[in-house]
Amino acid sequence: MNKEETYLQLLPELSNLLSESDDPVATLANAAALIKQTFPLFSWVGFYILKKGVLVLGPFQGAPACVSIQVGRGVCGTSFAKKETILVEDVRTFPGHIACDARSLSEIVVPLKKNDTILGVLDIDSHALATFDAVDQRYLEKAVTIIADHLTSISFAS
Ligand code: SME
Repeated sequence: MNKEETYLQLLPELSNLLSESDDPVATLANAAALIKQTFPLFSWVGFYILKKGVLVLGPFQGAPACVSIQVGRGVCGTSFAKKETILVEDVRTFPGHIACDARSLSEIVVPLKKNDTILGVLDIDSHALATFDAVDQRYLEKAVTIIADHLTSISFAS
């Protein structure tokens, strides 16, 4: 299967998987796990969620990561501030890139929006250069729409 076909299979799987729960931690955790296991080149898949004006590490799959990121800082904070997807072919060329894992070489960050409110970002890293392209952007933007549709609330408290 090529990448596009893999995404076309992933999206309905994601929708089915997420319909099992409306708990936000369960939703984000299973979304990260499914995306990571689908693409072996993805070394880290997870979420940063806005809390008290700062992006805070949420459910993820991969190595332990930076706990908080200021809005406007790094790839995640820039994507959040601009409310747009950012593709980075070589993180060494991105001013202010935050290296949680020194092995990461490329990255994509997609804003997580619910209706018109931006809640956080989906961040994906790779240990290879230029892992992500317009195909990833198109389908990961669809994936975050599915994820947002399953989030009835982003509050992690009961
Ligand atoms: N590289 C990101 C930080 C988060 S980690 O990659 C998990 C950034 O520059 O915002």
